[in-house]
Amino acid sequence: MVVTSVHQRTEQKVTVEFQVVPSNPKSDAEVAEILKGELGFGSFFTDHMISIVWEKETGWQTPEVLPYGPIAMDPANAVLHYGQEIFEGVKAYRHPNGEIAIFRPERNAARFNKSAKRLALPELPEELFIAACEKLTAVDSRWVPEQEGFSLYLRPFMFADEVFLGVRSAHRARFIVIASPSGNYFEGGLKPLKLWLSTSYNRAGVGGTGFAKCGGNYAASLVATDEAFANGCQQVLFTDAGDNDSIDELGGMNLFLVTNDNKLLTPELNGNILAGVTRESIIEIARDFGFTVEERNVTVSEWAAGVKSGYIQEAFACGTAAVIAPIGYLIGPDGFEIALPQPTGDVTVRIREEITGIQFGTRADKRGWLHQVAQ
Ligand code: COI
Repeated sequence: MVVTSVHQRTEQKVTVEFQVVPSNPKSDAEVAEILKGELGFGSFFTDHMISIVWEKETGWQTPEVLPYGPIAMDPANAVLHYGQEIFEGVKAYRHPNGEIAIFRPERNAARFNKSAKRLALPELPEELFIAACEKLTAVDSRWVPEQEGFSLYLRPFMFADEVFLGVRSAHRARFIVIASPSGNYFEGGLKPLKLWLSTSYNRAGVGGTGFAKCGGNYAASLVATDEAFANGCQQVLFTDAGDNDSIDELGGMNLFLVTNDNKLLTPELNGNILAGVTRESIIEIARDFGFTVEERNVTVSEWAAGVKSGYIQEAFACGTAAVIAPIGYLIGPDGFEIALPQPTGDVTVRIREEITGIQFGTRADKRGWLHQVAQ
């Protein structure tokens, strides 16, 4: 049986119709059992997923709400061979009054289309991206955790979905959103991270896909990430392929350094790094708090010298999944080591509390970043 449901986004008065294919959802007791356990990151999935097919001739088809489950795929599907794929990370939060809100999905929608353009995939109307995130959250609202610090991680993604081995952009693509109730990204919770400086591998180059959120960037980072794990680190730090000193980004998040004269330093958006939504929000919050934020070329040498002189005090990683994670060390081959004077510094904690306070509805959303989800 297929039913049609209308999802209305009130603030912009956009109505998107979804065909709903009924699922066989887990019982309330099963959901409650999962949610009160150790969720970790990205291991549990809700009852439904959103799917929208695109065809070159006809454009975007009717959005569907489908039971969550495997996607049947022809072995000659282009994505399996040429990796034409992009994704996003968005979170929905349960507020103390029981309401649910999504954080800045319009920023993810805009970035998704930048990634789509770079990967020669079709652009998705932003209102469709946002409606899909809201619809899945509403349909699976039982899965939005109440546990402090936990949220529903939404993973929108798009891939070439054409059975064809010729090398060209696909004539058929598919957009899907899945959802995963999640806790901390890192196993140790807020324990300061140890980063591994990759000296053998780079993740991006001029004119490449560094700024796009495409699976290929993450695939290319995995060998260096394995190296990081083997050296007792949780994340890898990549530098610029040209000088091997300018900081690029981590395997899956952006980086900030904090100085003793109230400055935050972060690599500029030079085309090689991801324009993080958390990064952008931190910059706004920090400026409102009176910090000076410098978006510019930041080098590992500058970081090492700054720690030695006492100028650089704190460092943190940030991203939707990781939120804000303090950094304790940067280590690398041949005994290279930077130990941060304040492994979990006051500035890191202050900014983290503000952003999570807004997300979880315990601090005022002065900038209108939250989208309420009608349940
Ligand atoms: C996110 O922070 O949402 C990411 O996509 C980073 C990583 C989990 C891939």
